[in-house]
Amino acid sequence: MKFKTIKENILYAGMNDEDRLIFDELIPLDHGTSYNSYLVIGSDKTAVIDTMYPKFTQEYIKSFDENNITKIDYIIANHGEQDHSGSIPALLEKFPQAIVVTNQVCAKNLQEMLLIPQEKIKIISNHEELSLGNKTLKFMISPGVHWPDTMFTYIKEDNIICTCDFLGAHYIFDNIFAPETEDLERSAKKYYAEIMMPFSFVCRKYLAQIEELNADMILPSHGPIHKNPKYILDLYKDWTSDKGKNLVLLPYVSMYDSTKEMIDYLSVKLKEKGIPSIKYDMVDGNLGDLAIALVDGNTIVLGTSMVLAGPHPAAFNTVYLASILRPKAKIASFIGSYGWGGDLFSKMTDLLSGLKLDIIEPILVKGKAKPDDYLKLNNMADTIYQKHKELGLI
Ligand code: FEO
Repeated sequence: MKFKTIKENILYAGMNDEDRLIFDELIPLDHGTSYNSYLVIGSDKTAVIDTMYPKFTQEYIKSFDENNITKIDYIIANHGEQDHSGSIPALLEKFPQAIVVTNQVCAKNLQEMLLIPQEKIKIISNHEELSLGNKTLKFMISPGVHWPDTMFTYIKEDNIICTCDFLGAHYIFDNIFAPETEDLERSAKKYYAEIMMPFSFVCRKYLAQIEELNADMILPSHGPIHKNPKYILDLYKDWTSDKGKNLVLLPYVSMYDSTKEMIDYLSVKLKEKGIPSIKYDMVDGNLGDLAIALVDGNTIVLGTSMVLAGPHPAAFNTVYLASILRPKAKIASFIGSYGWGGDLFSKMTDLLSGLKLDIIEPILVKGKAKPDDYLKLNNMADTIYQKHKELGLI
């Protein structure tokens, strides 16, 4: 594998994993992902910033010989998760003189997860600098995007920042520079939803720091490099904003179409009021589509059939996912249909309690919706309209 030049003496040593179909066993990937590793060659010392997912360790280690890299002095670990740190032990074996450089929290993770000896780790503090000769690395400890151990590494003389998982995307590429296409935006948004959205408040803090830096390039640890940082920073400013869009998410599961008919009706009524909605089939849908929609929607109305006196498991799964991804939605409600009885909504409402949502009165019907139920759906559309208007979304 040939390393690619980002600029003089800064090389891309990462790899594509085009076969990867799902990340964290949770969100399906459209294009696989890349694990980015960067080589910074100073006049005195050479550093590697982040390494490789364990599956590719052998190929990664071999690539240093293939590119005539005979000396590594520092291995910078921006984060302890193994898709970036997994090849550190093998890299230390190949370059025994190398020292791992990281922060205190990450050092502990590396010791416990990869059994890296303490004496092989140099612990740095926030804003500490490390000289490579004519290049200087400056460390910005940035807990919360997305682990407590995360840090960024700034290559001072080149005005380049390596942001680890932050500002990344699950995306593969031959050209290392971001194409700024809709396709990349979708991948980056889905990645944000799954990995960063639960920490949107923290993201905002680091976005401001990176903006202030006015870096020439952003080098994330997944996905292509941003030669135009404004592109990804502007997207993140929108995604991390606390204000939802005039959009209603309608996830549903329906055993005999009674629930789906109500969801379809509500969608039409919302549209008549100028409120777009996204329907999402919780059984057959792609979870990535729901994750993306969760970044924007101000309101979620979930429809579910009753199964064995409670919500359908697919509905419960979606509610749980929303509760941990912490989307910016402010309003929620439920629609449901049952055959013989049970408690459809209370457990789901409890699960969402941490999000402090404004819950609109749910609608529950036995079997098919009747004229009175359609009136209730009309009222629900009216209420959502009023609330969106009060929030300044319409
Ligand atoms: Fe890409 Fe948190 O690892």
